[in-house]
Amino acid sequence: MARGLFVTFEGGEGAGKSTQIRMLADTLRASGHEVVVTREPGGSPGAEAVRHVVLSGAAEPFGPEMEAILFAAARADHVDRTIRPALERGAIVLCDRFVDSSRVYQGVTGGLDPSFMEELERATVEDMMPDLTLILDIDPEEGLRRAGARRGASEADRFEKEALSLHRRRRKAFLAIAKAEPKRCRVIDASRPAAKIAAEIANAVQIAIERKGLPVKEATG
Ligand code: TYD
Repeated sequence: MARGLFVTFEGGEGAGKSTQIRMLADTLRASGHEVVVTREPGGSPGAEAVRHVVLSGAAEPFGPEMEAILFAAARADHVDRTIRPALERGAIVLCDRFVDSSRVYQGVTGGLDPSFMEELERATVEDMMPDLTLILDIDPEEGLRRAGARRGASEADRFEKEALSLHRRRRKAFLAIAKAEPKRCRVIDASRPAAKIAAEIANAVQIAIERKGLPVKEATG
């Protein structure tokens, strides 16, 4: 089966993932690739319904284990309905957060048993691990400041509200994943100007496209 390229974007709050995904999608489309942009929690009708439950904090009283199960349920639907079909068509999928966010937010800072997290991951991700994971790394203080500025007057979500010390632990946890899986992950210094970051990302994705042997397409206009 022809398989496209699966790229995920990870990192703390306010690292600029959505701006970078937009810029990369434009670049890839201009060279003729089919690009599917999606996000977690969400990315399919069932998962978008779960998104509201977890981000509003409605599931928080039931504890981190229940939240992890909800994120996993959303992910299973997202993989089946959006990600797998797109990859089977040969598309490039750009996903804002994926399983590393669960490993970090629920697993590490939620203090959940690693074997429980591994089981959930096996049941939801199956063979759909990303080909490339870009970890946008930024000092959490700066990230939260940016996220706050972007949000304006609306309220911070369930996770953004948490203490700076938790955000620092998450940053470390993302960097530890990158170190443990250097073939899949690449750390991007997200404190630099957006255009610089975009150039580094476009280069990394181009290498992944070539490695995967995706057909080079011509722009159609
Ligand atoms: P979102 O509004 O998409 O923010 P961001 O721009 O930071 O990606 O919020 C997603 C939040 O959900 C974010 O705080 C991270 C959290 N999250 C988890 O805790 N576990 C997960 O598995 C995923 C995908 C996200």
